[in-house]
Amino acid sequence: MGRRLLIAGNWKMNGMRAELAEIDAIAAAVARGEEGPGELLVSPPATLLSAVRDRLPNEVRVAAQTCHHNAKGAHTGDLSAEMLREAGAEYVILGHSERRSDHRESDDHVRACAQAAIRADLQPIICVGESEAERDAKETLTVLGRQLDGSVPDEATPEALVIAYEPIWAIGTGKTPTADDVAEVHGFLRNRLALRFGHAFASRVRILYGGSVKPSNAAEFFAVDDVDGALIGGASLKAEDFLAIARLARER
Ligand code: 13P
Repeated sequence: MGRRLLIAGNWKMNGMRAELAEIDAIAAAVARGEEGPGELLVSPPATLLSAVRDRLPNEVRVAAQTCHHNAKGAHTGDLSAEMLREAGAEYVILGHSERRSDHRESDDHVRACAQAAIRADLQPIICVGESEAERDAKETLTVLGRQLDGSVPDEATPEALVIAYEPIWAIGTGKTPTADDVAEVHGFLRNRLALRFGHAFASRVRILYGGSVKPSNAAEFFAVDDVDGALIGGASLKAEDFLAIARLARER
């Protein structure tokens, strides 16, 4: 298997320069060797990308939270993958449910952004997730299959691709699916990738779980074979909680 766990903090629209103290605390923990066996990643708002990149050691990854699909041009307020790469991002989160709802991002849009990310040497973290209504209607796998097929571009390479399963009803709510539910979904997603790209490809892609991950529940998700890390919102804002989750990651 050999997929190293990825412990990713999504700061969303949180973080002023004062919060760089949390980044310094992460850097200090890494310097002391207290970060656990996984790969750490922080995704601050774009305004802090270069400051965060400068303060963290190279082994901690930095991600942007979205990108435009064009390299440059007349798109007021947008940032291209190339710009974000230059500002220090190595990954970019794409198709987060908050962007799919706040900005009506479609699967086609997410796929175009993922192509842009690959073009700019940014690794896409592509998010999928069902709503509570879709879950109640037992449409979870249908919805996730459609999002995965539509959002992942043909150009994806297994080492550079990360998928994040984030059930919308679990984001910021304190509610979480059971480890069995997550195992079923992650197995489904990997199988779906295998049908399209082959088993060798699918077995190398990291699939993260996200939605109310905390130090108190992370271990049960990390115990699932097909869970290759976590995408953490609220609990990533405090270095102490983020590092506590990271230390629960398993060696693989
Ligand atoms: P919470 O961890 O705050 O539920 O957020 C999850 C998320 O949306 C990460 O991208």
